Amino acid sequence: MNDRVISPQPGPDDTQEGSLRPRRLAEYIGQDKVKSNLSILLEAAIKRDEALDHVLLYGPPGLGKTTLSLIIANELGSNIRMTSGPAIEHAGDLAAILTTLETRAVLFIDEIHRLSRVVEERLYSAMEDFALDLVIGKGPSARDLRLPLKPFTVVGATTRLSALTAPLRDRFGVTFRLEFYNERALGQIIWRSAEILHTRLTEDGCTEIARRARGTPRIANRLLRRVRDFAEVRADGVITRDVACAALEALEVDARGLDQTDRTLLLTIIQKFDGGPVGLDTLAASTSEEAETVEDVYEPYLLQLGFIARTPRGRIATRLAYEHLDLPFRPQPPGQGGLWQSG
Ligand SMILES: Nc1ncnc2c1ncn2[C@@H]1O[C@H](COP(=O)(O)OP(=O)(O)O)[C@@H](O)[C@H]1O
Ligand SMILES: [Mg+2]
Repeated sequence: MNDRVISPQPGPDDTQEGSLRPRRLAEYIGQDKVKSNLSILLEAAIKRDEALDHVLLYGPPGLGKTTLSLIIANELGSNIRMTSGPAIEHAGDLAAILTTLETRAVLFIDEIHRLSRVVEERLYSAMEDFALDLVIGKGPSARDLRLPLKPFTVVGATTRLSALTAPLRDRFGVTFRLEFYNERALGQIIWRSAEILHTRLTEDGCTEIARRARGTPRIANRLLRRVRDFAEVRADGVITRDVACAALEALEVDARGLDQTDRTLLLTIIQKFDGGPVGLDTLAASTSEEAETVEDVYEPYLLQLGFIARTPRGRIATRLAYEHLDLPFRPQPPGQGGLWQSG
């Protein structure tokens, strides 16, 4: 799935991603609400000379969670240790990480919803009291030991807030939700990346890429690189609107940024299930995708576009989806539990 040119997850040709990452909060484009709240938090923590409150970032892949964690550490002038939920297998792994953190360091835990229960429970007191509870020995001679830790900040990232346990969520002082970027912000990101990559780009070429980038900076940057290749091989190296359109057409990314898999998903709902409602698992099975992938990767953007809607009985395709696919709209008869019922 990472071979999809519009996959929001990092793929093999994203190795240059690091060089395109903004390093300061001021360079981070869009997400204005998050930025202004975060800058106040950062300033206050720096003024008080304290560790920043634990921060939870959530939102679909490719919107800038990892980037933001690096910026937080950078703005604090702190070290950052990067890990992920599945990488911390045992309580001992967590202890090894926590005991080597320097004062006011940032511990970035990606996919924090995938921490194992034992590890997660150890993390509670570490986050709350900066202390690590250990059990030394076994059987009747076992005793508890509380090891003090230096103050630090956990920055957690997740694509699915609902998969986080309540006690873990409660340990975070602030939770920020990252939103899909609008076309203007994506245009600025593409423009900035083009400068870094020394790529020549016209304004309408930039807009065309932005329009098809699914509200996602990672996809915007990837499309830019692919269109640049096309421009170098098939044109004189300059990305104009025509060049961008031709390149994106060749990549089978349509005018709204949908690719074959998205269209298959919509067509499945429309043609196999009469427009829905269809349950997530059924939908996943009939498109040979994992339910979790459909939910985390495909659905958020289709929902954002208003092409599908969630109802208590499953997903339905909306009029906009039919229009986008050039199909005659066939609303469900009343009583079928679709959008129609609510009017
Ligand atoms: N606000 C932003 N401004 C500029 N570039 C961004 C922004 N957010 C993300 N990016 C770019 O998108 C890429 C993916 O971001 P990343 O932080 O890895 O996403 P996530 O961790 O949410 O999956 C980064 O390499 C960066 O170049
Ligand atoms: Mg990430």
